[in-house]
Amino acid sequence: MIEISDIRTQLETARQKGILEFEQTDSPQTLYEKRTKYLGKKGEVKAVLRGLGALSPEERPQIGQLANEVADALEAAYQNRLAQLKSSESELRLTKDEVDITLPGTWTRRGAYHPLMRTQYEIEELFYSMGYDIAEGPEIESDYYNFEALNFPPDHPARDMQDTFFTKSGHVLRTHTSPVQIHYMETHKPPLRMIAPGRVYRCDSDITHSPMFTQIEGLVVDKNITFCDLKGTLEFLIHKFFSPDTITRFRPSYFPFTEPSAEVDIAVTDSSGHVTGWLEVLGCGMVNPAVFEAVGYDPERFTGFAFGLGIERFAMLKYGIRDIRLFYENDIRMLKQFR
Ligand code: PHE
Repeated sequence: MIEISDIRTQLETARQKGILEFEQTDSPQTLYEKRTKYLGKKGEVKAVLRGLGALSPEERPQIGQLANEVADALEAAYQNRLAQLKSSESELRLTKDEVDITLPGTWTRRGAYHPLMRTQYEIEELFYSMGYDIAEGPEIESDYYNFEALNFPPDHPARDMQDTFFTKSGHVLRTHTSPVQIHYMETHKPPLRMIAPGRVYRCDSDITHSPMFTQIEGLVVDKNITFCDLKGTLEFLIHKFFSPDTITRFRPSYFPFTEPSAEVDIAVTDSSGHVTGWLEVLGCGMVNPAVFEAVGYDPERFTGFAFGLGIERFAMLKYGIRDIRLFYENDIRMLKQFR
């Protein structure tokens, strides 16, 4: 004979056991299986209700009500645990995939033009804007292009072993970019305007001289080109490259391939603007008629000017670099200052 108290006990036990089991379950899948074990069609609560027939009509509603209460309690415990599991699951996913935005990023160092390239490009741009062609020539030259066609007498000291690197085959490493003048005039007819940047070599080395350095040659040939054109062009260059109030001085000089020749100095001033010294920045002059003859131009019809500047010297003056070797060591601490 089933007593109503037994059924009550069964229901209360199911409630307690069920709630405990739900709380101890760690996966939503198992939790659902547990829910079925208690609340499913063949679950423990339904099984108790099947025994209801043995009770009296007065007892039945009491048990029915208790069974509903137990079922509700179990359902609530189930929902509660399910919500807990879901939130900890998404929390876990968050911590697993977490990106710590306070950590330093992966740095890509930004590149920079080498100060010599930067100086070269800046000067090229200036002349390009004035319609100049940008030309190049070989670094290994014959004596003819480096000296003879440029009107160097056979006994000129610049041909001496002291200054010039000779190759075994009797060629020279060009000592200046002036041979590009000859190559260019051999292949072009006047009027012409060109600059020619490139490496040059001299047997010389100290903090302001390097056995290899770079120059930019300039050449303009036309009818009626005068020294005024040369002066105006170089002053434009210096004022643009350094500063509009840079003071320049044209000092008479000598080069075999220009006549007259000059060297251009820029003034060094103190804080009150007084000139305290001069720095030589380039060589220039009017193209020597002997050079026009060497390339087959008529010196009676054409005149021209030429100049040659050291890129290192321009860069050293502009950026306050004291030692020329810094350009070639490629120490990143020096180069990154030009970003
Ligand atoms: N070639 C000369 C030098 O290297 C510079 C120069 C070029 C001078 C053109 C006059 C004209 O010193």
